[in-house]
Amino acid sequence: MTTHTSTAKRDLLSLVDLSTEEIHYLFARTTHLKAAHKAGEIVHSLRGRTLAMVFEKPSTRTRVSFETGMYQLGGHALFLSSKEMQLGRGEEISDSARVLSRYVDGIMVRTFAHENLVTMAHYATVPVINGLSDDYHPCQILTDIFTFQEHRGSIAGRKVAWIGDGNNVAHSWILAAARLGFHLVLAVPEGYEPKAAIVARAEQEIAQHGTSGSITLVRQPQEAVIAADLVTTDAWTSMGQEQEVKKRQQAFAGYCVDTLLLQHAKPEALFMHCLPAHRGEEVTSEVLDGPQSVVWDEAENRLHVQKAILEWLLA
Ligand code: CP
Ligand code: NVA
Repeated sequence: MTTHTSTAKRDLLSLVDLSTEEIHYLFARTTHLKAAHKAGEIVHSLRGRTLAMVFEKPSTRTRVSFETGMYQLGGHALFLSSKEMQLGRGEEISDSARVLSRYVDGIMVRTFAHENLVTMAHYATVPVINGLSDDYHPCQILTDIFTFQEHRGSIAGRKVAWIGDGNNVAHSWILAAARLGFHLVLAVPEGYEPKAAIVARAEQEIAQHGTSGSITLVRQPQEAVIAADLVTTDAWTSMGQEQEVKKRQQAFAGYCVDTLLLQHAKPEALFMHCLPAHRGEEVTSEVLDGPQSVVWDEAENRLHVQKAILEWLLA
């Protein structure tokens, strides 16, 4: 299928940037690229292309999967810590975007304020990919849904339970529920709800397009997990919130995904976590290492999904 309707550059800042058809195209391409990689076939669709990767926060998976993905596709990736760029000394994002665009074919950014990514994308003349902002983590959620699909088939009409903080990863799940038509129930403590504007945006989309998705907020983890097909969680304290660790540990007590909680989900329910995990806080080791956990497949699939994204945006 044709995925580009115009020659204008495309960005991936949140799932709003992708149509349902484009997500399905990316998943199909991911399946192909993953199989080719496992079979030892070389796919050099990005020969001669370079990706700049600007990191304002730490990373293991995002950095290694994007860098390895570019290499496997015959291209090159540059790891740029913002601290070691002039960006870290106050050079404007707009100027950095214009300069990087003269050298590279795409820019991946991990940043704090989502607005930084919007500015980068506005001034860059090459595609910009969100490698996590305070508001969204689209590459992660595309990967999670791809992983679900690999294990259990289509996510449409399924129930997904989110336990914990209404954070960047939760926000991407919310937009995905609208795009792909599944039922997302989030159990969050008071004061840690997802941003109302993001929930409203997803609900508006569900109403407009008549998709079968839904977003429900509850307080009790058990209520969210009942009959779920997928249970997922994330750190209680995200990057940049380190000064709130104590307060958050108190607020999220009772929001740990343990074996007892997971028993309320369907027997075939999967457990996912974007990682890094804090064993004994948001999830027990028993669940993380247990038979329902697919967290290592999920981590691996970042590589394959992002290769499809890179090809689609940069080729
Ligand atoms: N899940 C994820 O994005 O991991 P990193 O922070 O290690 O990149
Ligand atoms: N919510 C977490 C995700 C880490 C991949 C954070 O932003 O730190």
